[in-house]
Amino acid sequence: MKEAKPEERKLAEAELRVEELRELVNHHMYRYHVLDDPEVSDAEYDELIRELRALEDEFPELITPDSPTQRVGAAPAELFRPVPHRAPMLSLDNAFSEDELRAWGARVDRGLAGATPAFVCELKIDGVACALTYEDGVLTVAATRGDGRVGEDITANVRTLRSIPRRLDTDDPPSVIEVRGEVYFPVKAFEELNVRLTEAGERPFANPRNGAAGSLRQKDAKITASRPLRMWVHSFGAAEDITFDSHSDFLAWSEKVGLPVPPTTRRTKNLKEVLTFLRRWEKTRHSLDWEIDGAVIKVDDAKLRRRLGSTSHAPRWAIAYKFPPEERTALLKSIEVHTGRTGKVTPFAVLEPVFVGGVTITNATLHNEDETRRKDVRKGDTVIVRRAGDVIPEIVGPVIAKRPKSTRRWKMPKKCPSCGTELVRREGEADWRCPNKTGCPDQSVEWLFHFAGRGAMDIEGLGYKTGIALLNMGLIKDPADIYGVTDEQMAELDGFATKSIENLRRAIDASKDRPLWRLLAGLNIRHVGSHVAQVLASAFLTVDALAGASADEIDAVPEIGPEVAATVAAWFDDPDNLALIEKLRAAGVRLEDEPPPDEGPKPLEGKTIVLTGGLDTLSRDEATKLAQRAGARVSSSVSKKTDFVVAGENPGSKHDQAVKFGVEIVDEQELLRRLGR
Ligand code: IVH
Repeated sequence: MKEAKPEERKLAEAELRVEELRELVNHHMYRYHVLDDPEVSDAEYDELIRELRALEDEFPELITPDSPTQRVGAAPAELFRPVPHRAPMLSLDNAFSEDELRAWGARVDRGLAGATPAFVCELKIDGVACALTYEDGVLTVAATRGDGRVGEDITANVRTLRSIPRRLDTDDPPSVIEVRGEVYFPVKAFEELNVRLTEAGERPFANPRNGAAGSLRQKDAKITASRPLRMWVHSFGAAEDITFDSHSDFLAWSEKVGLPVPPTTRRTKNLKEVLTFLRRWEKTRHSLDWEIDGAVIKVDDAKLRRRLGSTSHAPRWAIAYKFPPEERTALLKSIEVHTGRTGKVTPFAVLEPVFVGGVTITNATLHNEDETRRKDVRKGDTVIVRRAGDVIPEIVGPVIAKRPKSTRRWKMPKKCPSCGTELVRREGEADWRCPNKTGCPDQSVEWLFHFAGRGAMDIEGLGYKTGIALLNMGLIKDPADIYGVTDEQMAELDGFATKSIENLRRAIDASKDRPLWRLLAGLNIRHVGSHVAQVLASAFLTVDALAGASADEIDAVPEIGPEVAATVAAWFDDPDNLALIEKLRAAGVRLEDEPPPDEGPKPLEGKTIVLTGGLDTLSRDEATKLAQRAGARVSSSVSKKTDFVVAGENPGSKHDQAVKFGVEIVDEQELLRRLGR
């Protein structure tokens, strides 16, 4: 037999060692990140990684996509491309009380006629749904839920999550299994991240779920890797060459192959035990390092599940039990008012810090003058604070029994807290406003922050801290001034060095070329948020066309009502606002969109149509797409502006609405004819 050449022998030896190292590293990662029970020190672990990396550097042919060293890599071009789910990702029906849960239990019993099901009780993780496809045991695709049928590819980002194995720990993997779960941001790490973001003058995330979603939606996987995201597995979709007799079996298998399964899950024999589980977790939900907003109760047995089946959107064999909103009491230290970007002045409560709904709250809105007086909360009161899910915390009312003797009824201040201008409240309106549009510091900084925000011009790095500093330097009156700030002026900002100046300059320059809707959304026109801005941008294509349009012409745009139309037209009648547009134009900001490419004839151009009932040959989706391609706007509700309604079999109330408004009703054949088919 021919002797192997020395290089070949070296390669073969390296291959063996690389495999051994990968197994070791994966094993220790699992011990550390999933079991929370490491067997080796961090230094020993780092040494294994270093050795593996050195061997892979020397023999690049040994690098495989699932090697632990490849967790962070350049994001492939595929990032965020659409990924059709092999099986749809359904949603869950909700129960908001124990009675509703019992009613579900009764429906399950009826559906099973005699069989007594056992249940698996899980916590409902408040994270980002994610589907992991393993082919022959190797993680090949990770996708978001999307609309349940098609998600977005986030494989490169998910590969950076250390608690997710890239290879299942089994010698006998199924050819395909699509494992589903929630990616979450651990609460403690989340609060730390928010402190860091706030200190850096950047916007903090509203809650851990947003933090997780934002961290997964990064184009640069290194940023995802820097966030300590984790995942809990709770179900599966498509599976080939593997079946499970029960959900418990699936969870046990998942745990065995190294997938992260939450330790809080319990199997219960009846609804009574389910209720015990729910009551326990409702009380202790904040003892966990991940946010939950309820529990999910699932029939365990796979055969019984099949008998119960699913509706088009949710399985009948499972239900989400939502925890009720949380309430705490806190001392109300004072009632202050704040002037927002539109001049609206909002009273808010300053509280002794109180932890409610998983977060520490120090402020809570009181909405407006009438609302505050109606609740009659006073400085020195003990008040009830409520927070439901990620909703803005609110003050329910005072605890009268605890009211100190010398409290006084609150009065709305007469002057703007920021600039001292006399406030005005117009007839029929609930809000007081500061009329000083360009000379009020609070309005300027809030407007700038909004203009630079993700829902508008998206200027990264231009947060409150920088905004306030620029304002204090006298450089900003309106957002257009941001384009005139020089590098030398930026250098005077606290903590700004060459790199941060470069970054902010790049972000400001990039914002000059944003789609038109972003500019419209940033202009601070009342009622014009990102959605209305998009509708206006696609209807008018240029700022000049919109500025030149009358209220009636704007009102004629589908989805735009008379009140919004009047506000927009009035905004463009104001010479100060027109001057702002000219300033933006002079700064080189793009004030128009490209017209959409002409894709052929558009027989339904400008028509608004509504579909109702089942069509014979087309699915609802196909009909919608064909009509949109032909230039129609497909609306979900009938109004006088609807051009015609396409009614199929068993049409719903939209058909009656069409009759009521005298809107033309046609059948599918006629729709196809109008589409030129
Ligand atoms: S089971 C067919 N289990 O909640 C249902 N979902 O509101 C499959 N979720 O879409 C989901 N915790 O993204 C399941 N323990 C849990 C869950 C859970 C959170 C999410 C999931 C689902 C959504 C429904």
